[in-house]
Amino acid sequence: MKAAVIEAQGGIENITYRDWDDPAPGPDDVVVRVGACGLNHLDIFVRRGMPGFPVPMPFISGGDIAGTIDSLGADVQGWNVGDRVTLNPQTDHGMIGEELIGGLAELVRVPAANLVTLPDHVPFETAAAIPINYGTAHRMLFARGRLEAGETMLVLGASGGVGLASVQFGKMVGARVIAAAGSDEKCARLAELGADHVVNYQDEDFSRAAWLLTGKTGCDVIVNFTGGETWAPSLRAARRGGRVLTCGATAGHDPQTDLRFIWVRELDVLGSNSYSQEDVASSVAHVAEGRLAPVVSHTFPLERLGEAERLMEERGFFGKIVLFP
Ligand SMILES: NC(=O)c1ccc[n+]([C@@H]2O[C@H](COP(=O)([O-])OP(=O)(O)OC[C@H]3O[C@@H](n4cnc5c(N)ncnc54)[C@H](OP(=O)(O)O)[C@@H]3O)[C@@H](O)[C@H]2O)c1
Repeated sequence: MKAAVIEAQGGIENITYRDWDDPAPGPDDVVVRVGACGLNHLDIFVRRGMPGFPVPMPFISGGDIAGTIDSLGADVQGWNVGDRVTLNPQTDHGMIGEELIGGLAELVRVPAANLVTLPDHVPFETAAAIPINYGTAHRMLFARGRLEAGETMLVLGASGGVGLASVQFGKMVGARVIAAAGSDEKCARLAELGADHVVNYQDEDFSRAAWLLTGKTGCDVIVNFTGGETWAPSLRAARRGGRVLTCGATAGHDPQTDLRFIWVRELDVLGSNSYSQEDVASSVAHVAEGRLAPVVSHTFPLERLGEAERLMEERGFFGKIVLFP
């Protein structure tokens, strides 16, 4: 098969498009013929290298996979060759695309237990935007963050994968959403997609804006996977008793903080990691039944993965970037 291979950790120049041995299914696995694979910031971290998470090289990243079943392991039941599927990339043996060979390729081996049926009317392109972004947001907002109708939620990085999923889930359950992003164009799209208020944090202090938009009471829930310099101002934007949710740190994992806000306002800082089969399956159902509509701003053929990753690094996209093998 052909694959986009990370030959060694480092820059985009380390990605090559080349032949790679076809995977064969283990007894409980299937091999999926990839119809589309969504890009995540994780793919950039896997290529650059993450302290404490060595990835064996050469490697194929890509965890957001949609396609058809190409072959079945001997013990697999309930699935057939040709079935349309997407999947939960978090397996019992590690994460597909981070610890196990991923889907930025023509074929990928996955455990049958991780498959989710994809209805005929959901295109692969749309499905490849669901598992990681919506699965992560689903767990973070509901299992960890206990977000409810009528609450006010501030989302930073609202134009990216997890960010847009958080905005859409927030609106779906009847929360008031303040979406913060890095350009007027991104803010305009977020408003079109239903955000109640938008803040361009390149021009405006998002913390002050959120404080004023809530009548100087603060937000019930803050979603911050950016970290870095955004962390302390996020705490300042929360109300007394508010919840500050984090699932990542795109701009730095050891930010300066301000403990005064945590104790004076009795904030709950809640971490969220990964997602379950149920988080992915219910996200797929919400899309299939029309309650959520993922946004794909750019698509590329797989051989142009480097260009796609550069676009993500430069923050020139909205929602999701999807690759086609
Ligand atoms: N723990 C988990 O299970 C889990 C799962 C999924 C993702 N994550 C983490 O969540 C974060 C977001 O992932 P994603 O795939 O949604 O990323 P993404 O699609 O690239 O979105 C990140 C957004 O953050 C904003 N941003 C602010 N500062 C940035 C910076 N210094 N560099 C890049 N973007 C910056 C950008 O929007 P603007 O240009 O509008 O500012 C960008 O669109 C990552 O840190 C990822 O590792 C964690």
